[in-house]
Amino acid sequence: MSGPNKNYDPVEVAALDPEAIDQAVASALAAASAATTLDELKALRAAHQGDRSPLALANREIGALPPSAKAEAGKRVGQARGRVGQAFTARQAELEAERDERILVEETLDLTVVDDARPIGARHPISLITERVEDIFVAMGWEIAEGPEVEAEWLNFDALNLGPDHPARQMQDTLFVAPEGSGLVLRTHTSPVQVRTMLDREPPIYVLCPGKVFRSDPLDATHTPVFHQFEGLVVDEGITMAHLKGSLDAFVARLFGEGTVTRLRPSYFPFTEPSAEIDVRCWICSGEDDNCRTCGGTGWIEVGGSGMVNRRVLSAAGIDPDRYTGFAFGLGIERSLMLRHGVADMHDIVEGDVRFSAQFGMEI
Ligand code: PHE
Repeated sequence: MSGPNKNYDPVEVAALDPEAIDQAVASALAAASAATTLDELKALRAAHQGDRSPLALANREIGALPPSAKAEAGKRVGQARGRVGQAFTARQAELEAERDERILVEETLDLTVVDDARPIGARHPISLITERVEDIFVAMGWEIAEGPEVEAEWLNFDALNLGPDHPARQMQDTLFVAPEGSGLVLRTHTSPVQVRTMLDREPPIYVLCPGKVFRSDPLDATHTPVFHQFEGLVVDEGITMAHLKGSLDAFVARLFGEGTVTRLRPSYFPFTEPSAEIDVRCWICSGEDDNCRTCGGTGWIEVGGSGMVNRRVLSAAGIDPDRYTGFAFGLGIERSLMLRHGVADMHDIVEGDVRFSAQFGMEI
């Protein structure tokens, strides 16, 4: 840059030479229109419009001119800078429009394309709970026993001290297998597996019998004609109700959470004597909320039946009731699922919609 022109020497400073300025403008315009990307344009703009560009230098030289020459040079440089600025701004708008157009095309989503991603599915919570219950008892040294779903009437009823006049044998509960008098029913509980096990082998017996059972109930919010139970059976020397209580407490603590306990409430079942309903301490309020919606404020939730195996059942199965005693219990899996997870409608459990099952996690 030249120093101030103190002598007012009417000398044109090189950078302000009209030709040089035209030249700078021409090369800036060429550069702007040659830029093909926004990044490139930005770099070129810095070179042609930035502080070190020829036109910026020329602008700074104006100060060194004699006053008479300043106006004209200022106008010339100002117009030149204006044209260059406009050219770059216009080119930038063009390149941005091209970019936006390209993004619209590249990122277009075809919403009509059929998505063939297959969901991985989910296991049914009934299967998950059943396996968890099995694991708990197997860990205590018990075995799993199974029996047929189409069962001999004798095993489903008679051997369990449910005589021919017992109300549970009436048509409203039991699904009989045709033809009439076939002697076969769809088992109404898993208790016949008790009898099968005792007929099959000698004590000591420690078995868990999970399975599907059937009753002629219509499907509604709280009932289903096909549901699942698991039955526990222990027959050994010296077995008492304390063993029943201890086994149930150990079990519920593992299924419902540490600290959950059971309560046995007197009841009646033909195949056990004495018999008891099994209540579980409410795992939501622990008996401390009179308005608890899970237990209805009672602090306890009924989950099944139990008792000491009736002597007559032991005898029917060929076991000496003077030498051996045993206990049995039965719990409904659907009911436990509804209570444990707040499932309000049995339809959700029965229908097998994967969106319902998926909520219970993907554990295998
Ligand atoms: N079998 C009974 C039922 O289905 C439950 C139960 C099993 C009760 C074992 C006592 C002992 O309701």
